[in-house]
Amino acid sequence: MTQTAFDALLVENVHPDADGALTQCGPVAIRRLAGSPSPEALRGEIAGARILGIRSRTQVDAPLLDAAPDLLAVGCFCIGTNQVDLAAAAARGVPVFNAPFANTRSVAELTIASVIMLMRRVPEKMAAIDRGEWLKSADGCNEVRKKKLGIIGYGNIGAQLSVIASALGMHVYFYDIEPKLAHGNARPTDSLDALIAECDVVTLHVPSTPRTRNLMNAERIRAMKPGAFLINQARGDLVDVDALAAALRSGHLAGAAVDVFPVEPKSKEERFESPLIGCPNVILTPHIGGSTLEAQAAIGLDAATKLARYLFEGATSQSVNFPEVDPGPLQPGRTRILAPHLNRPGYLRKLNNLAEEAGANVAAQFLQTDGELGYAVADLEGELPGDFLDRIRAIDGTIRARAIRAR
Ligand code: NAI
Repeated sequence: MTQTAFDALLVENVHPDADGALTQCGPVAIRRLAGSPSPEALRGEIAGARILGIRSRTQVDAPLLDAAPDLLAVGCFCIGTNQVDLAAAAARGVPVFNAPFANTRSVAELTIASVIMLMRRVPEKMAAIDRGEWLKSADGCNEVRKKKLGIIGYGNIGAQLSVIASALGMHVYFYDIEPKLAHGNARPTDSLDALIAECDVVTLHVPSTPRTRNLMNAERIRAMKPGAFLINQARGDLVDVDALAAALRSGHLAGAAVDVFPVEPKSKEERFESPLIGCPNVILTPHIGGSTLEAQAAIGLDAATKLARYLFEGATSQSVNFPEVDPGPLQPGRTRILAPHLNRPGYLRKLNNLAEEAGANVAAQFLQTDGELGYAVADLEGELPGDFLDRIRAIDGTIRARAIRAR
């Protein structure tokens, strides 16, 4: 028996590598719309879609979700998920997936390139050559080998950077609030202040949280070694940019690379302004740390794989708004029931009672809850009555019910 293809609507030029990943577990009919459609246009297109793939510009709000009653899941082919009303999607039983780590390597490469360029004072020499000046002197220019790199935040990017920097012969120190396994010869420091006082380059790779906001304030910038460098390619609110600009202009710091800013233009039309413009030996980039073709391809693969596994296995691993269940491939002869529901006592018992009444054997079962939301998956053996899904929908608290049959 051939299975009907799921209809997937992809907008905003999602990377073509997504197509193969989406169809890896079964038939999916992919429709693409170029660019980010207006809310009205999207509402007109989304009616029958089971999957919606977006990037960062398309807003998915409650009215759009209501216009797409058949929608099973949303894929954000990017890192952030602010453009989606996650609670509204969860309340309608729609898991949302993204690709949070697909651009790790791209950021780590930009950081290491920045370390080398800053230590050779390339930004300063490029600015001079634009003015027709030939600054050939080696003064203040160093190799990175044997210099101390201090990484604040030893997560995916920090750890990857540590490996690359060690390979270049740098001495790597790191500070993280969680215990972390050190890669190679990297060493954890006892405190943030110890790292700041010790290192020739301090680079930030932490998320924006109440604890990290303004982490590099005027006092900590003053505590950095004279002639040291500061890199922020993480989030714009981690650094006091006025204090950084003052430290660069006074010569206390020898340079900085900044890719993220407290206020960033929302489009090409908006003008970029920052006290860092015109400071000596700075590399300012427009939030491009993760912007490479490789990262786009990796994002396409990652988000599409998660969507395919949800369509054909019911897996919600790494969903940003759903309890995580990973039931694995469905065994032949079984029917998998997927039931997002309100997290209330006794739901599973009622589901099992229905299976028993139908004469079906529960061969495997999975349940996870997160706050208000529960997600139950049951693999059943035996012939099920034609109205079995309707019976599940009638259980108090069921948000929706779907069945996957082994092919
Ligand atoms: P991650 O979650 O893997 O690692 C973050 C690390 O920071 C974790 O180990 C965590 O324990 C640590 N941390 C949290 N609070 C801390 C604190 N107060 N002090 C010290 N350590 C702390 O995140 P990932 O993927 O490595 O990303 C790091 C940063 O890079 C994030 O801010 C992310 O938004 C940013 N980023 C920027 C991009 C760009 O285009 N410039 C692209 C991708 C990520």
